Amino acid sequence: MPNLHKKRLGLILCTGLVLTVFVWTHLGLSGRDSLPRQDKASLFQWISQNKIILRNESGITVKQEIACKVALNVCSCISDREGFQLPFSNWIFPRVWAHNLEGAFLESHPNPEEIKSVRAQEYSSFQKRSYTAANGLIVAEANSPLQFPIQGVVVQPLKTIILPGLALKTNGAASYMVYLRATLGTFDVAAIVEGVSLKGEGENHMTLSSPNLSALNKQLSFVTYTNTVFHPRTAENVEFGTGGHRSFFTVKIQHKTPSKLYNSGPQGDYNISALVTLATKTFLRYDKLKDLIDSVRQYYPTVTIVIADDNQHPQPVTGPYIEQYFMPFGKGWFAGRNLAVSQVTTKYVLWVDDDFYFTSNTNLEKMVDILEKTTLDLVGGAVREATGYTATYRHTISVEEGGEDGDCLHIRNGHHHTIPGFPNCVVADAVINFFLGRTDKVREVGFNPRLSRAAHLEFFIDGLGFLHIGSCSDIIVNHASKIKLPWGKTDSEKEYDKFRYSSNPEYRKIHNEIFYFTNRFKCMTSQ
Ligand SMILES: *[C@@H]1O[C@H](CO)[C@@H](O)[C@H](O)[C@H]1NC(C)=O
Ligand SMILES: *[C@@H]1O[C@H](CO)[C@@H](O)[C@H](O)[C@H]1NC(C)=O
Ligand SMILES: *[C@@H]1O[C@H](CO)[C@@H](O)[C@H](O)[C@H]1NC(C)=O
Repeated sequence: MPNLHKKRLGLILCTGLVLTVFVWTHLGLSGRDSLPRQDKASLFQWISQNKIILRNESGITVKQEIACKVALNVCSCISDREGFQLPFSNWIFPRVWAHNLEGAFLESHPNPEEIKSVRAQEYSSFQKRSYTAANGLIVAEANSPLQFPIQGVVVQPLKTIILPGLALKTNGAASYMVYLRATLGTFDVAAIVEGVSLKGEGENHMTLSSPNLSALNKQLSFVTYTNTVFHPRTAENVEFGTGGHRSFFTVKIQHKTPSKLYNSGPQGDYNISALVTLATKTFLRYDKLKDLIDSVRQYYPTVTIVIADDNQHPQPVTGPYIEQYFMPFGKGWFAGRNLAVSQVTTKYVLWVDDDFYFTSNTNLEKMVDILEKTTLDLVGGAVREATGYTATYRHTISVEEGGEDGDCLHIRNGHHHTIPGFPNCVVADAVINFFLGRTDKVREVGFNPRLSRAAHLEFFIDGLGFLHIGSCSDIIVNHASKIKLPWGKTDSEKEYDKFRYSSNPEYRKIHNEIFYFTNRFKCMTSQ
């Protein structure tokens, strides 16, 4: 059985490798040429058309539709083939484009080999910091007479717990023996049971033995574990064995993290001023900012507005419930978001651009309601352009394992599913730049201040797997400037243009570096 398993795995891996090799050599990843859309079924078709044979070993049938979905740690980025270019086709069926970050970043770098090795070192120490024994794979062997806890055992650093669920289930022996072994802690017993002999109490290897099985099991229920090596947020695999059988289970070693609760007064009708702070960043647009503030005041006269200002010639913006923070000239977009969010004292922070304005459709109560009633951390609304076109800018993001060269980032238009009880709301991985978030969670992800110009999705890429995000199309803010026609470029096209053709090469380099080095991506695809 294990043999069969290995073979099958080998086969799958092998097809994956063939695939990558081909994608890399034939497309060099920059290509928008011969490959069709990146759904794997057509990839397999492509492979067989190109006479790459997936051999079916005797007795094993490759179930291709499943096999090709298996994560292979050999990801690649493939763009859509350039098809017919009808006037609106890109708008209706946004094409997937691919970008080779490795190439783009290393090509302009004076010492590519050095930067690759520094990236590899940084990644290996990052892995060391984030790895605990709880990440490792443990296989329970068949027919073990040992009973033990599979998961859920937690000890605080340097504290002691009783290990729950330990027992030996066997019979017919003249005497019974079990042992426990640890590296970050020691064992002992909280009570002694008559007829059981103990060896190694207070040490990291303890043996319990008795001719009486029920006495031994009673003794096992009193076994304690004490963490002795101080290293919070780690784990260890405790070994529990008897003659001929070994088992492992994980003990997590972690502090009880203090909660962060906000006292926003009694619930009932949501008091927006007590729950929400508006955060914005302004640059060269004081007239627009004034319109935003005036419109907010019509609906929310006492909500606090935090303004991060990096203008060269700052003008004071005054009024009740307004806090303006001055920054050095041109510090930029994400630095401003960080500063504004850092000053928020309410449970929620609402991000708005300085050229937005509120209308009666800008219903913050609805946004608060969804965050209060679900486990979402952040909810985006919709932005209505002067033309009447309303955008929610929903995206899904995924990161595929790619081995030594780095991982692959994939961004697509769309969402995951609607939220039960909120028919206008869906779950996505990234939303528009009008969103309400839990202040703590937004701060924890943060905004990389090196991203000074075009940046938005980067925040959501950093928050992937950490922020639980929703998007509601019926909470609408209006956009004052930028006449945007519905048949004009879509947001993602603009994002793409900014990303690829940003006029400032220095900025483009920083962008590539953040994706290539900081996030350790080798390439990306997007719509
Ligand atoms: C492998 O076997 C399955 C089932 O017989 C078949 O559908 C598939 O096409 C075969 N694959 C190849 C590459 O021959
Ligand atoms: C075995 O241990 C159990 C529990 O400690 C005890 O009740 C029982 O009397 C013991 N049996 C013998 C034969 O000692
Ligand atoms: C709402 O919250 C603000 C700020 O905490 C407070 O000043 C105000 O009295 C509250 N309003 C109500 C109706 O509770």
